Amino acid sequence: MALLRVENLSKYYPVSNGIFGRTNMNKANQNISLKLDAGKTLAIVGESGSGKTTLARQIIGIEKPTKGSIWLDEHKINFDNRRDRKKRFKKIRMIFQNPYDSLNPQVRVGHSLEQTLIINTKLSGKQRRKKIEETLLKVGLQQEHQYRYPHMFSGGQRQRIAIARAIILEPSIIIADEPLSALDVSIQAQILNLLQSLQEDMGISFIFISHDLNVVEHISDTVMIMYHGQVVEYGNVSQIFDEPLHPYTQALFASTPLYRSRFPQFLSQSVVARSSTSLSGCVFANRCQYCEHKCRSNRPALVNADQDYQIACFRFE
Ligand SMILES: Nc1ncnc2c1ncn2[C@@H]1O[C@H](COP(=O)(O)OP(=O)(O)OP(=O)(O)O)[C@@H](O)[C@H]1O
Ligand SMILES: [Mg+2]
Repeated sequence: MALLRVENLSKYYPVSNGIFGRTNMNKANQNISLKLDAGKTLAIVGESGSGKTTLARQIIGIEKPTKGSIWLDEHKINFDNRRDRKKRFKKIRMIFQNPYDSLNPQVRVGHSLEQTLIINTKLSGKQRRKKIEETLLKVGLQQEHQYRYPHMFSGGQRQRIAIARAIILEPSIIIADEPLSALDVSIQAQILNLLQSLQEDMGISFIFISHDLNVVEHISDTVMIMYHGQVVEYGNVSQIFDEPLHPYTQALFASTPLYRSRFPQFLSQSVVARSSTSLSGCVFANRCQYCEHKCRSNRPALVNADQDYQIACFRFE
């Protein structure tokens, strides 16, 4: 039984093109499906603007999907139901790239953690204080840190506060959207270790959005590669990292120094010409070294090429 299932989720944003007030649709997510099992980590990888944060925002409920459905514990979420929204808020928590943006600078850390508990639990004042102290210790902070304001912490400590806020309601899923990219390398390793030990202790499942392929290989069970709002390749971490098949995934590896020697046969993205996306054809057609005539006119469907492995490319249909 999957803890979380997303089926054919799409999000379109109306954007005005300024000519005669006409409105076009920016298809930030198109027909995205995924599955997350208990205690596992799904990594989402894709270049800037590929729709990773948009997907995360729909899963936690900040945005309503244009189309598609989300299932939590095999219960189909009703996007307009208040009780469903509240339940989802407790069960799925998010950690953002820049912790400073998500913390209110005028509120002491303990107070903001307590507000989360007041709104979402029936704990007494004494129980809340105990929970806050326990949670701060769990994320490697000290009890007295609850009396400080966010600006009185280092970047790494602030990300620990954001993690405390994410775990204090004992969620079953945490979505971490580029949680390391605002931190320096030594702190990145500490935060990554913290997330992994929390996963082991609390059995939390993670959706981990990252540009860092090395981190993704290290922590994830399954990997979803997105390009221009669509999933182009999706499979077990070993499958994707041993034999990436989609030309975009191959280009991604070839552009990453750490993997270039592992895959010397792949052409890097800088070699593949960069231009706009084909409207009716494959989203990667204009940058693909294998592009054929039909790739420009037809869009390849995401097909099951193997058990638990999917790819959207005519070369594998
Ligand atoms: N509120 C919005 N209104 C209109 N367009 C939006 C909105 N939010 C996102 N978009 C568009 O949706 C697309 C996907 O954006 P998104 O933030 O999900 O990308 P991302 O993969 O998270 O990128 P990054 O790696 O830079 O964080 C982009 O083209 C973006 O401009
Ligand atoms: Mg983003």
